[in-house]
Amino acid sequence: MPRLRKHTVLTKPRAGTKVADTEATRKKILKHLVSKAVQRNTERTTVILTPCQEQAWALLQGNDNIFLTGAAGTGKSFLLGKYLEGKPSALYPVVASTGVSAILVGGRTFHSFFGIGIMEGGAETAARRACENKRVVTRLRRARGVVIDEISMLPGEALRAADRVARVARGIDAPWGGLQVIAVGDFAQLPPVSDGKEGKDWAFMSEVWDESDFSPALLSTCVRTKEPEFLRILNFVREGVVNEEVTDFLNARFLPPTLGFDGTRLFPHRATAEAHNRRKLDELPGMPQIFQTIYKGREQSVTQLRRNCPVPESLHLKKNALVMVRKNDVSGKMRYVNGSLGTLRHIEPDCLTIALFTGETVEIEKTAFALLDGNGNETAVAVNFPVNLAWASTIHKSQGATLDRLMVDLSSLWEPGQAYVALSRVRSAAGLFVERWNPRSIIAEPQVMEYYRRMGA
Ligand SMILES: Nc1ncnc2c1ncn2[C@@H]1O[C@H](COP(=O)(O)OP(=O)(O)OP(=O)(O)O)[C@@H](O)[C@H]1O
Ligand SMILES: [Mg+2]
Repeated sequence: MPRLRKHTVLTKPRAGTKVADTEATRKKILKHLVSKAVQRNTERTTVILTPCQEQAWALLQGNDNIFLTGAAGTGKSFLLGKYLEGKPSALYPVVASTGVSAILVGGRTFHSFFGIGIMEGGAETAARRACENKRVVTRLRRARGVVIDEISMLPGEALRAADRVARVARGIDAPWGGLQVIAVGDFAQLPPVSDGKEGKDWAFMSEVWDESDFSPALLSTCVRTKEPEFLRILNFVREGVVNEEVTDFLNARFLPPTLGFDGTRLFPHRATAEAHNRRKLDELPGMPQIFQTIYKGREQSVTQLRRNCPVPESLHLKKNALVMVRKNDVSGKMRYVNGSLGTLRHIEPDCLTIALFTGETVEIEKTAFALLDGNGNETAVAVNFPVNLAWASTIHKSQGATLDRLMVDLSSLWEPGQAYVALSRVRSAAGLFVERWNPRSIIAEPQVMEYYRRMGA
């Protein structure tokens, strides 16, 4: 992209701050990026798969319904990305259980794709309404397969409604109306939101799951970390086991938060994470440069995108800030992934120079995050640098990411899988520090464990 000249600042700056964007810069970038927002990687890249990824790959070439699963870091998302390379999104749409994960995989939410919205009136009513929607019917007839990412957070009720819609739309009274379903995720990670109801509405416990007759593609080799001792600990935590080994490990990783720490701190609550980022930015000298996220699209969609976008509405940056990249490097060089950390070395209106922890220095331009409607059309885009301040984040937001240096607060977690998600983000135990922990925070869902035992995991 050409370097852009400075123009008049149209946004009123907050007292004492410097606005780094200009209106002209925004328009130009928006025009340039919107068309690229949802393009799938069309080039086939060469990679070496692990033996279990090879097996899963072979299974993916068939027509069965598949449950691609495995512990954190076994390369589920990686394999999924590879599988989707070159596949048109109308034939193989990707849908995700939450808005955040949908935006990250360049897909749409499960609910919007199947036309079930927020399921007002319950599953039956929502399904009936969706079946009357011509566009929902057309896209379900056209699709050959649908890929559901982050399945662990999808409630069984949504699965029931969607199966109903697919059967009616396709006019075939078989599971999913004959549509191939590839479900991807790990039920030992974060569960569906329970809305105050008792018990979790796990997808794998619904009758639709049984009827779908998924062939399991179980990945068992962790790629994120190769350290056997660390993997043993992660496995205990995955199963909710707090034994002497786990206790010794977590105690040995203790680091008082008052000591300088140059990685990401993971907190259970968003407000704590945001406050920590603000405090750390204030400690750096100089005024922050502010990059407003530019939104474009239908009002309702923009509101949704503001809530779910991986980048904030207003990105405050300073030289030497710790940042996390929120997109994968699609250039084929794989220099960074969603979750890579680095120090911001240089800030220009259209380019950030980041010294990554891996030792490489990269230049990152603005990019567009798109919200898609059920048909895969963009209803809104948000454009900004794909980075966040990375001194802190929430455990929920970290699901799916690979991080380099991490300090976790495990003092009062409440969800099954929450501690496991937090601890399993790093490539090496040397990059993991524990600020506080409590054995009660390490929770596993017995039904999930039983499910995986039956699968032979
Ligand atoms: N075959 C491979 N070759 C090179 N890198 C790989 C391979 N498989 C996975 N990786 C890398 O390993 C890391 C973990 O993979 P990925 O994020 O896909 O795991 P995951 O199973 O989706 O984990 P999570 O459950 O935490 O989402 C990523 O950095 C990914 O790029
Ligand atoms: Mg993943």
